[in-house]
Amino acid sequence: MLCGGNSPEREVSLKGGEAVERALVSRGHEVVRFDPPRDLPRLAERAGEFDIAFLVLHGPGGEDGTIQGFLDSLGLPYQGAGVLGSALAIHKGLSRLLYQEAGLPVPPGKVFHRNESHQIPEFCKHLGYPVVVKPATQGSSLGLSVVKHPEELPEATERALTLDHEVVIEKFLFGREITVGILGNKALPVVEIIPEKSEYFDYETKYTPGAAREICPAEIPEALFRKAQEYALRAHQALRLRHYSRTDMIIMGEEIYLLETNTIPGMTETSLLPLAAKVFGLSFEDLVETLLLMALA
Ligand code: DAL
Ligand code: MG
Repeated sequence: MLCGGNSPEREVSLKGGEAVERALVSRGHEVVRFDPPRDLPRLAERAGEFDIAFLVLHGPGGEDGTIQGFLDSLGLPYQGAGVLGSALAIHKGLSRLLYQEAGLPVPPGKVFHRNESHQIPEFCKHLGYPVVVKPATQGSSLGLSVVKHPEELPEATERALTLDHEVVIEKFLFGREITVGILGNKALPVVEIIPEKSEYFDYETKYTPGAAREICPAEIPEALFRKAQEYALRAHQALRLRHYSRTDMIIMGEEIYLLETNTIPGMTETSLLPLAAKVFGLSFEDLVETLLLMALA
C-alpha cells in the first residue's frame, strides 16, 4: 500500500492509509507500506513480490498520474484512474473544459497562469464577487479562498500561487454542497455536506469530526438526486477515469454545477465515499476489497 507522500494532503493520506490497511488485513491480505517518493526505489526492487499496489495518496505526486506511470512501468496493477485520467482530473482548469465539452454545467470561471495574474482583477470585476480562487491542482480545499471584496484578491491569488503555477477563478455559487461517488459503472447515493462551523467545506471542516453534517442519501428532490448521479457518471467518463471517483458539486435552484472530481477519494473516518458506499450496502472493508478486485480484474 502506498500512503503518505509529500503533497500538503499527507496527513489525510496517512489517516486513510491506516484505515485501508486495517481493512485489508481484516480480509486476510498481507500489506507492506511504502511512503513515496522516499520508498519508491525499495518498491521497485520488491515489485515482483506484490499482486497490487493500493493507492491512498492525494494531490500532486500521488493523484496526478506520476505514481500511476511509475506503477505502469513496474507492471504493478493499482486501483483507480490511470495516467491520463489522473492528470486530467487533478487539473481543475482542464476538468472544467472536459466537463463543458460533455455538456456538464460548471460555475462561470477561468484558469490563469502565474504570468497572466495581472488579468485576474478585471476578470473578477466582470464575474462579480464573491469569487473562489484556488490552485489548479490541489485537493481538500488547500490554498482556496472565497474572496468577497476586490482588496482581498491579491493575497488570495498569492496564496493559491504558492501551491501551483496556475489558479482557477470561479464565481462563488451560494448553494447546497453535494458529492457523488462512482464505483464501477454505478453512481452511489448522493451525499449532502452541511458545514456547521464555517461558511463552506474548507480543510478544517473536512477533517474535524463534527464540523460538518454529512447527509446520505441527501434530502433533495428526486429529480435533482438522479441528475447529480448522472452528472457524476458523465464526469467520470469525460475525464477518462476507471474503477471509482467522487465528484463535488453545488446545487443552485434546479441546476447542478460541477466543481471537481477526485480520482483517489479520501478514505478517513470522516470521508464521503466510504459513507456513500455504506448507504449503498458496502462496509468499509467491502469497499476496499471491491477496489482491490477491480484493480486485479
Ligand atoms: N482530496 C480529498 C482526499 C478528497 O476529496 O476526498
Ligand atoms: Mg478534492
